[in-house]
Amino acid sequence: MKISVIGLGYLGATHAVAMAKLGHEVLGIEPDPKKLQALNAGVLPFHEPGLDVALQEVLADGSLKLASGHSEASREIELHFICVGTPQLAGSDKADTSYVFSAAKELASWVSKTAVVAGKSTVPVGTAKELKEEMSKVAGFEVNLAWNPEFLREGTALEDSLSPDRIVVGAWNDHSVTVLKTAYSEILKKGTPFLVLDVPTAELVKVAANSFLATKISFINAMAEVAEVSGADVVALANAIGYDERIGNKFLRSGVGFGGGCLPKDIRGFVARAEELGVGSAVEFLKDVDAINLRRRQRVVDLAKQELGSVAGKTVLMLGISFKPDSDDLRDSPALEIATQLSGLGAKVLVHDPVSLEALSLKQPALIPQEDVAAGFSEADLVILGTEWKQYKELDPSKLDARTKTVIDGRNVLDVPKWQGAGWKVIALGRNL
Ligand code: UGA
Repeated sequence: MKISVIGLGYLGATHAVAMAKLGHEVLGIEPDPKKLQALNAGVLPFHEPGLDVALQEVLADGSLKLASGHSEASREIELHFICVGTPQLAGSDKADTSYVFSAAKELASWVSKTAVVAGKSTVPVGTAKELKEEMSKVAGFEVNLAWNPEFLREGTALEDSLSPDRIVVGAWNDHSVTVLKTAYSEILKKGTPFLVLDVPTAELVKVAANSFLATKISFINAMAEVAEVSGADVVALANAIGYDERIGNKFLRSGVGFGGGCLPKDIRGFVARAEELGVGSAVEFLKDVDAINLRRRQRVVDLAKQELGSVAGKTVLMLGISFKPDSDDLRDSPALEIATQLSGLGAKVLVHDPVSLEALSLKQPALIPQEDVAAGFSEADLVILGTEWKQYKELDPSKLDARTKTVIDGRNVLDVPKWQGAGWKVIALGRNL
């Protein structure tokens, strides 16, 4: 099938590669010349394990071609995916849908009557209806718009795209459903559930799923706050409640909380949209979810102050700066915010991260990139684990020295007895060690 993928950021680049891997003839459209040039050379402008190799493969076999915009080739395309970003609007909690509207309006001059346009971007409920009206006005006929939210996670993006838990399609007509079903036929052969919904429900599925995940994380982090003052242990608590299948043990990892380009902005955007719809109180609790999450970052800053006395002039080593492991994404990263706050208080903050130091230098030059982790330890008055990269979990504390052997485990992943046995003071969130 001839497919276009519009917007080759994180979501779009992954989706374009995945669709090519599924055997389609894919045209990726990216107006940013720098991004386009990198992708054309088989280089990803972000870190995502395995995606670069897959990109090189689909470019080499010709199943993925890239362009900076639409051309006559777009008229032949049977299915267009809109994958542009919807970041948080500056100075507001709302999602900025302007990129989606401009991509859709531009496409409307090229789309054929039989082609299907599937939105994958995360949008406030009601957006698709408006988009369909605007596109149809430009096209001069009723455009087959459908909504097909994406649930991939950074770090496992390609795998999630090729083997999703479910495929969700919100559509106004059967033709759109048939075309999307054909596009995903290779995945559906494996028995993946294909859910056909009305469009508003499909739009809501994505924000509801992300809100639920954020709530689960903040729930366990709220328990961490209670554990801290009651002598309880949040890790043992999460483990114990997780045995109940109705609760489950996933997304109950306590620590500095959630960050990234999705969960934080999606819960805020959801509240803003619900308020517009007059049902703000229905999701008011998400403000608490957000507040609990942000309090964990502050808690680490407070613990650092408590340990260091005065932060000014002290050296702090931050282990991991991306919002999660296997990613170089610094958007709304808890580790980055903690490091920035400590630096603002006068600390010399050294940052080690397996892949994010280049991105860090551009974003926050006050933080000092540290390539050699052991050398960073030796200078540190305090070590903070901010992102649970595998290599930090595997560190041998007996081989690490520091000015003061104190570590704050911001992700509750260190082997505490081992670190304590090697002479380290371990401070963890929600645990009384
Ligand atoms: C999230 C969703 O999980 C995806 O399903 C969704 O497609 C994506 O947003 C999106 O909207 O595009 P992602 O942001 O890549 O994916 O990362 P997650 O794995 O959800 O982690 C988000 C944050 O929560 C990270 O900072 C992570 O460290 C934190 N987290 C996760 C915890 O603090 N505790 C946990 O138990 C799990």
